[in-house]
Amino acid sequence: MDVISVIRTKRDRGRLSDEQIDWVIDAYTRGTVADEQMSALAMAILLNGMDRAEIARWTAAMIDSGERMDFSALARPTADKHSTGGVGDKITLPLAPLVAACGAAVPQLSGRGLGHTGGTLDKLESIPGWRASLSNEEMLAVLGDVGAVICAAGDGLAPADKKLYALRDVTGTVEAIPLIASSIMSKKIAEGTGSLVLDVKVGSGAFMKTLADARELASTMVGLGTDHGVRTVALLTDMSVPLGLTAGNALEVRESVEVLAGGGPADVIELTLALAREMLDAAGLPDADPAKALADGSAMDVWRRMIRAQGGDPGAELPVAREQHVLTAASSGVLSSLDAYAVGVAAWRLGAGRARKEDAVQAGAGVELHAKPGDPVVAGQPLLTLHTDTPEKFPYAAEALADAFAISAADAAASARAAIVL
Ligand code: URA
Repeated sequence: MDVISVIRTKRDRGRLSDEQIDWVIDAYTRGTVADEQMSALAMAILLNGMDRAEIARWTAAMIDSGERMDFSALARPTADKHSTGGVGDKITLPLAPLVAACGAAVPQLSGRGLGHTGGTLDKLESIPGWRASLSNEEMLAVLGDVGAVICAAGDGLAPADKKLYALRDVTGTVEAIPLIASSIMSKKIAEGTGSLVLDVKVGSGAFMKTLADARELASTMVGLGTDHGVRTVALLTDMSVPLGLTAGNALEVRESVEVLAGGGPADVIELTLALAREMLDAAGLPDADPAKALADGSAMDVWRRMIRAQGGDPGAELPVAREQHVLTAASSGVLSSLDAYAVGVAAWRLGAGRARKEDAVQAGAGVELHAKPGDPVVAGQPLLTLHTDTPEKFPYAAEALADAFAISAADAAASARAAIVL
């Protein structure tokens, strides 16, 4: 087998055989296929696609590139969720302890920010002392003791994806349904969860911009999970507007804690409860009541234990950016749109995300929203506050936001946005 013939097959719109797929994933993981060759193949896949059988084989080869975890010794059923990525998407933070408080075990392997989208690990690292990297034994111990753990995937889990994902990030090959589906599902299947709820984001702030693409991605992933014995369901949810009122690491942790304390923005609560119900149902706990666990403080108790178990101080002050800049409404009326992608890019430019893989993120950086579409606004009132430690970045963030919002004279009810679960 040689890599050039594999690249040519896909470049010329052919089907990759099982042998070609197994060989190229293994050779890339071992380093005998070079990054430039794999990036040519990834681009050919992005342009020419893969059929379902090719995606299934590609996913299986990525799973086989590393180890598989086993949670069968746990007393509780396992349930995990994965979001395809969005702006202000802090849902994992309240969701994992909430579902654990209702009786499931939640092994949440999470990622870092990618482009304009935030990453759960970057957010949690703004809590003083909190540690994202756990050994498999530590992860199992936290899961057994607390019921929920949020951590980075170990190096042994789907190493082919780890390499390929970093390569796709810098070669313009992220937005390919076969590559996204196999990347997410190889990690989730290797992780060994019994059930999985996928939150497939749709809209300007998501990787899938149209409902048709999001449906295709969702059904591909549900098929892969089901074929591997994981009870898998998917929700399609809106990502045309940021979730909640914050985008940025510590800002989002603060908002998540508000939700766990019984407050917080309505859309974050709505999506957290919708996903919790799906996870509990998939885990065989349909009678559990997540709204009660949020209201009675039991989800907050699990959150505190989970943060402490990973070295964090749940009571510590969260970092605040050194500088703030407020953008105000130019006219009175109703906020009729607020573009998620633009807010994500602004937060990223302010320092909440990375320009290069090795960059550090700023814990306090990000964007705070003072109004959401459908809200009445008055000329001169604050619309957005930008936070950063590097104020020279304000003009770049403001530039990203130049066309991000619109104010109309229309009546508020008419422009209020649709439900977030599509
Ligand atoms: N998240 C992943 O883990 N992989 C992708 O390809 C996209 C989002």
